Amino acid sequence: MRVTINQIKEMKQKGEKIVMLTSYDYSTAKLVEAAGIPMILVGDSLGMVVLGYETPIPVTMDVMIHHTKAVVRGTSKALIIGDMPFMTYHASTGEAMRNAARFIQEAGAQAVKLEGGLTVAEKVRRIIDCGIPVMGHIGLTPQSVNQLGGLKVQAKSREAAAKLIDDAVALEQAGAFAIVLEAIPFKLAALVTKKVGVPTIGIGAGPYCDGQVQIVNDILGSFTDFVPKHAKQYVRLADIMSNAFNEYCEEVRSGKFPTEKHSFIIDEGVLAELSQ
Ligand code: KIV
Repeated sequence: MRVTINQIKEMKQKGEKIVMLTSYDYSTAKLVEAAGIPMILVGDSLGMVVLGYETPIPVTMDVMIHHTKAVVRGTSKALIIGDMPFMTYHASTGEAMRNAARFIQEAGAQAVKLEGGLTVAEKVRRIIDCGIPVMGHIGLTPQSVNQLGGLKVQAKSREAAAKLIDDAVALEQAGAFAIVLEAIPFKLAALVTKKVGVPTIGIGAGPYCDGQVQIVNDILGSFTDFVPKHAKQYVRLADIMSNAFNEYCEEVRSGKFPTEKHSFIIDEGVLAELSQ
């Protein structure tokens, strides 16, 4: 049985910190779940850290479904959330509902996430009416990078901070089961966390959210284009991988690898016959 959205909501009531991490493939998702992480986000950040785009904007529904299926196959307990990509929930409510349904029906996710507050609240409500749990996402919304003028801290002015609070309340009222707060001042995140009854999940939003999410490649140190200020590298996988690649290269070139130990045998009699 997978973790449910009710269990996630109860964690806020009990004051238990909620851990969420992204994953984009089978093997990583298996390890993330084995660490006891209850929620896995198949984020459209995969556009940058897996596919090498500069922003998540080129990511399509088909790409997201492909990766979400892999994460679902690697897990049996975690709640899997599919991230709705750019322009897959804006044009119409019908399209938003159909695309959200693909994550559940085709990919096997249990919930979807989408970016925006008041402007998407009605669509959030309608997707939930279909029986699909929705996680909100406000603050820095990377799909709007061109409108925001870069991936930078949001809601610093009084007006923007007040709007962010309104957005959070609108998402809660629309029925979102949790809200991601990305790249906002930590005291504002703490205030939003007090104001809403559903869990807030922070990324670059300080320590006072109900939970935290990070991009798996950031905490593993395997994405080398840039390291966000909010990320902590628990390991430098890029260095470990580079060392392994160099060593492999050297051993193949020098004949040190493979040895007979890594190889398969044939019956000596058969070999003798063939050699005549
Ligand atoms: O795409 C993603 O990984 C996200 C997280 C940063 C919350 O939206």
